[in-house]
Amino acid sequence: MVGRLAGRFVGLGITGSIAAFKAVDLLRLLRAEGADVQVLMTPSATRFVAPLTLAALSRRHVDAEVLDLLPDGRIGHVLTADAADAVVVAPATAHWLGAMAHGLAADVVTATCLATAAPVVVAPAMDGDMYAHPATQANVAILRDRFGYAIVEPESGALASGQLGPGRLADLGTIVDAVVAAIGDRPVRRPDPADRPPRLAGAAAARLARDGDDLAGRHVVVTAGGTAEPIDPVRFIGNRSTGTMGVAVAEAARDRGARVTLVAGMVTVPLPDEVEVVRAETATAMREALHGLLGTPGGGPGFDVLVMAAAVADFRPAAPADRKLPRTEAGLRLELVANPDILAEIGRVVRGLDEAGAAAGRPFRPRPVLVGFAAETGSLARAADKLARKRVDLLVANDVAEEGSGFGTPTNRVTILAAGGAEEALPLLAKREVAERILDRVVAALDARDAAAQTGPDEPPQETSVP
Ligand code: PMT
Repeated sequence: MVGRLAGRFVGLGITGSIAAFKAVDLLRLLRAEGADVQVLMTPSATRFVAPLTLAALSRRHVDAEVLDLLPDGRIGHVLTADAADAVVVAPATAHWLGAMAHGLAADVVTATCLATAAPVVVAPAMDGDMYAHPATQANVAILRDRFGYAIVEPESGALASGQLGPGRLADLGTIVDAVVAAIGDRPVRRPDPADRPPRLAGAAAARLARDGDDLAGRHVVVTAGGTAEPIDPVRFIGNRSTGTMGVAVAEAARDRGARVTLVAGMVTVPLPDEVEVVRAETATAMREALHGLLGTPGGGPGFDVLVMAAAVADFRPAAPADRKLPRTEAGLRLELVANPDILAEIGRVVRGLDEAGAAAGRPFRPRPVLVGFAAETGSLARAADKLARKRVDLLVANDVAEEGSGFGTPTNRVTILAAGGAEEALPLLAKREVAERILDRVVAALDARDAAAQTGPDEPPQETSVP
């Protein structure tokens, strides 16, 4: 089937909204329709989505710096403006709408729109009150009525701010339809690839392939979802984890070339393709699965990385009934016993330590990189203690009481703590983007581990720092 945008060259402008992560899928849809796409980003958009992801999908260098020149001296955004059959800006923030309405070309997206004769499609996304504000509405009216831009109105729904209302980026299919409609039957403006920004080739494409594959040859184990601790065959003690965070890590690791095993507890989101899934719905089952995967110090399949994103129950009913418990007016008293701390246990085993922290066996060589999560409410003060107690290389702390963060949200705000003491607080990001940031640090830790193994037999570096 020939796509509706076959032969067309489309500029995709991304600005700094939390909805920027959806631009990855929009890019895929435009490419699926046959479009040749040049991605343009404002500096704040690059904080929400990694340009590398977009470069890999578009096979073009991402244009994010208004003053950067192409290697041959041409000005990237002017070339895109001259060649584009359409420019689509999605998501468009309130700030960007204001800058565009007043011709303030401080970023490549605005500069390209100012310089182009092509139709422009704009899909705003922001908090509902921001969108309703007369200033934003006046800017939208300028773009629509004076500049002739096609505005794809935001939809109503749950917003990252926690509000319900208009402001959510329109359905991606609707945005693609608007691009197709805006181009209509105009002739292709610059069919010759030489008149468009260059596609990545040679060393640049090879570097992209390498960087995009930086977990190739590694076995990454990820846990996701909550555990369900049975009271009887019908009832259980559970938690609100959906598995979104763990699945995002598994997908990101897979896309970066790793062999991935997903140990899935109670997961309500779809499980990813092309990863091995092991079901483990209780803490006991998860512990068994992970010890099975870990292997032994001297051999076994083992893994290079463990990311524990699962919300493991700390307690379980001491004696689950084997028949459904009847309802009684007297109520029910449950005795709970502590579950083992699986991550702390693995942290000890890979170092050959016993429960008291004394040397008791052979440490693993090479030692897997361990990443824990910490679900906190109100303060992340206890996270450093968890990092040390569980002997992990990285601890990803999230405040699960914060709006848009933690359980069941598409986004998360995390602080990444490293064993060396470094700490980095990230902004609210899509969980996939959080996953990429974690894996960037995992790759650095694996490289440090491997480099240390070349130079001596001792324990690999503990001082993993957050780059
Ligand atoms: O699945 P989502 O809806 O996307 O939600 C994501 C999340 C909020 C579940 C995730 O971001 C998260 O915070 N996961 C860890 C939840 C948790 O169990 O936190 P904790 O602070 O209680 O445990 C600290 C670490 O020890 C975790 O890596 C946990 O997997 C591990 N642990 C905990 C208890 C236990 N008995 N054994 C463990 O191994």
